[in-house]
Amino acid sequence: MRRFAGAAVHAQQLSHLRVVHLTDLHVGRMTPMKVQRTAIELTNRQEPHLVAITGDFVGHTQRYLEPLQSIVSSIAAPVVCVLGNHDHWAGAGEVREALRRAGAEVLTNQHTVITVGGQRLQIVGLDDAYTSNASWRDAVRGLRHDLPSLGLSHIAEEAEPLWHAGVPLVLSGHTHAGQLTIARLHEMAIGRLAGHKYVHGLYGTRQATRLGQGAVYVGAGVGAAVMPLRLGERSRREVTVFELGREPGSFDEPHAEQDPGKGRVPSPRRQYRRAAAVVRKERRRARRSGCRPDCA
Ligand SMILES: [Fe+2]
Repeated sequence: MRRFAGAAVHAQQLSHLRVVHLTDLHVGRMTPMKVQRTAIELTNRQEPHLVAITGDFVGHTQRYLEPLQSIVSSIAAPVVCVLGNHDHWAGAGEVREALRRAGAEVLTNQHTVITVGGQRLQIVGLDDAYTSNASWRDAVRGLRHDLPSLGLSHIAEEAEPLWHAGVPLVLSGHTHAGQLTIARLHEMAIGRLAGHKYVHGLYGTRQATRLGQGAVYVGAGVGAAVMPLRLGERSRREVTVFELGREPGSFDEPHAEQDPGKGRVPSPRRQYRRAAAVVRKERRRARRSGCRPDCA
């Protein structure tokens, strides 16, 4: 459990809204169901007004959509979410449907206004940038500036255009905090090798004074899809609470805003390869089910 205040501007706009952030559930064979149930139990125990989940609901297949539906539907608060790269690899349409059946609102490059705890909150949700499905332009079209806002994006680097659109805090995931954080291995693997500016925890500023400034939070996630191992304090499975409406610094937090790493924008060739992988996997699924990709 980690607990942080929201952005300073939220304290002017809201009395108090408790948002639990979960990410990278990866419901599947690499993540024991006991872990999933514990995460939901911890979440419900916080009595949140809202639960935000930032993608990677599954591992590599659609085999676990029913358990996913049962896990998400056991959350005792409204759920709003966005998809991650694994959801696109496994089949975005089917994952979205399972989440909707579980009562979650899935945001796909769009924003919505929800009323929780008697207060309105505008939530901007980006689709997954790793597989080239994110469009911040679509997501912020018609965004209201008179409402408190919160952003959701699987990939943390997408927070930056949202800050320019006036979203002061963005929640994200994807990195699993590196999973192996002993001897700062995660900074090497996620930062230098994978090219992420934001590896784990809070970055930027919650005291934004102009457009273009803001904060992003990278959750360590609940599950795993490739390697079930998590070693080191910073790699621990995580349920994060954001107390929107509380001033940053008004209570003890796990750490202050960190400086980002250098990061590296993926080359157009790499972006193409990542997007092509989604199409390849979709074709393979269609072949196996004896159906053309467009016949479902
Ligand atoms: Fe993930």
